[in-house]
Amino acid sequence: MKIKTISAIMAIVILTSIQTMAQKTLAKATKGKFLFGVAVNMQQVNGVNPVETELITKEFSAIVGENCMKPQPIHPKEDQYKWDDADKLVAFGEKNKLAVTGHCLLWHSQIGRWMFVDADGKDVSPEVLKERMRQHISTVVGHYKGRVRGWDVVNEAFEDNGSYRNSKFYQILGKDFIKYAFQYAHEADPNAELYYNDYNVENPTKCDAIVEMVKELKAAGCRIDAVGSQAHMHMKTPTLEATETSFKKLKDAGVHILITEWDISILPSPYEGANISANFKYSKEMDPYREGVPDSIQQKWNKRVLDLFGLFLKYNDVVDRVTIWGLTDNTTWLNNFPVRGRKDYPMLFDRNNKRKPVVDEMIKLANNCKTKKKLSNNK
Ligand code: G3I
Repeated sequence: MKIKTISAIMAIVILTSIQTMAQKTLAKATKGKFLFGVAVNMQQVNGVNPVETELITKEFSAIVGENCMKPQPIHPKEDQYKWDDADKLVAFGEKNKLAVTGHCLLWHSQIGRWMFVDADGKDVSPEVLKERMRQHISTVVGHYKGRVRGWDVVNEAFEDNGSYRNSKFYQILGKDFIKYAFQYAHEADPNAELYYNDYNVENPTKCDAIVEMVKELKAAGCRIDAVGSQAHMHMKTPTLEATETSFKKLKDAGVHILITEWDISILPSPYEGANISANFKYSKEMDPYREGVPDSIQQKWNKRVLDLFGLFLKYNDVVDRVTIWGLTDNTTWLNNFPVRGRKDYPMLFDRNNKRKPVVDEMIKLANNCKTKKKLSNNK
């Protein structure tokens, strides 16, 4: 009898340790709650740095191309598509069982000027632009039909004051360019999820404008599954309250939420947005941690990460994915934005590709959080 009891206890101990060991990655700990993703560059996809590639396949459950699926790189000329990099990204995702998101179909930046002008360099007519948008979207979405989980159909169409960004799309087609884009994407792959993506979504005026757009798209019979909040954040802004308020507004508008480009800059910031054209002069004052981050600042950053991650977990009924924008402090775009040549520490993995201590705290938080997803959403 005694031997039987001891071996039963041993079995339970081993089992629990295996179980807890299994939850020791962000991907596993968030399973059933939301996907945990990372934006990857082609060096990582091509395995140029095997340590980074291994980190991606081990710690994450989703990937997005930091640049390779954008209009300019994938469709540089009207009659030319460049599929190589994006094909490799999707194949990498499939090989490593990582959900792939397409970023992005229409954006005012990183897009060929040819999309908007005729042979004389004049703006094309609304009909011509619509047809060029349809060609671009149906060709790109069609090429990856059934292999890409969802698409950022339109990226950054609003200003922070809630007005429509005065892009060439808007100038030529007005706000309806968004509706056409979602219609074309759905026609090209009816099973793909479709998202609207923007930064500063926590800004109440901008969030209200996005909610209004969501309602108009739904009223027009368009499929829109979620709004992507890029979440390029700073030590104090956006506040937890503003972030939660935006979650409530989007949930009430009947869409799910994606955290699509999460990073938290630890540096002082002259600018609080992600408009890539913004650029500010370098100064030592703006780059205070070249020799490393003082522990007191690091502790504040860790708390900021955990507070926000806790909020994402609290809304895991509607938050379907949390993606960090870059893998390590080495590869982050924030070392050169909005001031070139700084040393920032916004990511969860340091310059030696090592996990930061906060990651273990995030995993504990996720392990102790129950899933709120209805089984149907629990893919
Ligand atoms: O590929 C070319 C290379 O051939 C050339 O030699 C090199 C020199 O200029 O440029 C390379 O292209 C760069 C590209 O990244 C790939 O590295 C572009 O100049 C550079 O502007 C581009 O920056 C990207 C930026 O979007 C462009 O808009 C960043 O990596 C990327 O992190 C950033 O991501 C955006 C999201 O898509 C949307 N939300 C904001 C976010 C940050 O701006």
